[in-house]
Amino acid sequence: MNIGHISLENTLFVAPMAGVTDRPFRQLCKTLGAGYAVSEMVTSRRDLWNTLKTSRRANHEGETGPIAVQIAGTDATMMAEAAAYNIDRGAQIIDINMGCPAKKVCNKWAGSALMQDEALALRIVEAVVAACAPRKVPVTLKMRTGWCHSHKNAVTLARAAESAGVQMFTVHGRTREQGYGGQAEYDTIAAVKAAVRVPVVANGDINSPQKAREVLALTGADALMIGRAAQGRPWIFREVAHFLATGAILAPPLVAEVKRLLLAHLQDHYALYGEFSGVRTARKHIGWYVKALPGGDEFRARMNLLDDCHDQAAAVADFLDQLGERMDRMPAAMPDGLTNRDEEQMELTA
Ligand SMILES: Cc1cc2nc3c(=O)[nH]c(=O)nc-3n(C[C@H](O)[C@H](O)[C@H](O)COP(=O)(O)O)c2cc1C
Repeated sequence: MNIGHISLENTLFVAPMAGVTDRPFRQLCKTLGAGYAVSEMVTSRRDLWNTLKTSRRANHEGETGPIAVQIAGTDATMMAEAAAYNIDRGAQIIDINMGCPAKKVCNKWAGSALMQDEALALRIVEAVVAACAPRKVPVTLKMRTGWCHSHKNAVTLARAAESAGVQMFTVHGRTREQGYGGQAEYDTIAAVKAAVRVPVVANGDINSPQKAREVLALTGADALMIGRAAQGRPWIFREVAHFLATGAILAPPLVAEVKRLLLAHLQDHYALYGEFSGVRTARKHIGWYVKALPGGDEFRARMNLLDDCHDQAAAVADFLDQLGERMDRMPAAMPDGLTNRDEEQMELTA
């Protein structure tokens, strides 16, 4: 599959998740079978570009391409400037966020709130495409099915945005009003797929290889995007790829492999965030890895008290060594983790 002139390794994507899909996590997912990852959103507010948070988000050192950066904002000129700023820092694809329901974003009329004002949404698309086209950078758009149940305008918006030059759409099968509640629906994604010629990516509640196959069949989408189910389970991408290719379920990873992956992920994480922030922000990732494991809750409680990177990594290694004595492989079915926890976290991080 291609996004504009850029071809992708495969059609399994990591969803952008603010506070989660930083460079170390994206790179880990790519190593484990994801063909494409979008960065956490970067604000279009110039006054925030020099903050540590935004400059970390705009750091792509050592990341396997293509580098895709998501931008969020409400003003067409500022969004065009944000696109140019990120292209200068290595972005090869610019994704416009019209899917994020976080209050922090929507109160400022960005994210999925833009779906309520199609004229403004289009002005933003046109301005961003105008900034990206001369640099040969494709523009993509991530949206929800609409604002609310009675106003599902994903198809209308996609048609207009395609005419304005958008080269790929990702649709999360929920309205803004739904937040993360209820279940994703796939009919609207199928309708978007039928309405445009550029690739369409289906997103929402894909948490197993079987669900991935079902969503592909229901939507006819060109690619699938997985978010929450990859938290603590980044190997889901190779599991899905294997199932789609062969129809067989891949054995869960060996505990020894997870130990190696997790320790490498932690080192990469500490290197990006430094000791103080690194040890704290790593806790959520470790928590996701261990939450379904025997003794995982107790371990998480103990681990949250450690505030030194070396001690944290050593505790993780010990925990997984002990687990390895009881079982060779990770448990087959991890809980999908699609809970309100994510919405809380989203409010905190986005
Ligand atoms: C913690 C968190 C942060 C998110 N941040 C973003 C974001 O920055 N940009 C965006 O477009 N979507 C964001 N999302 C939405 C996801 O990209 C995705 O559309 C949603 O989680 C549905 O996919 P899933 O069911 O596979 O998780 C976020 C979701 C979560 C849980």
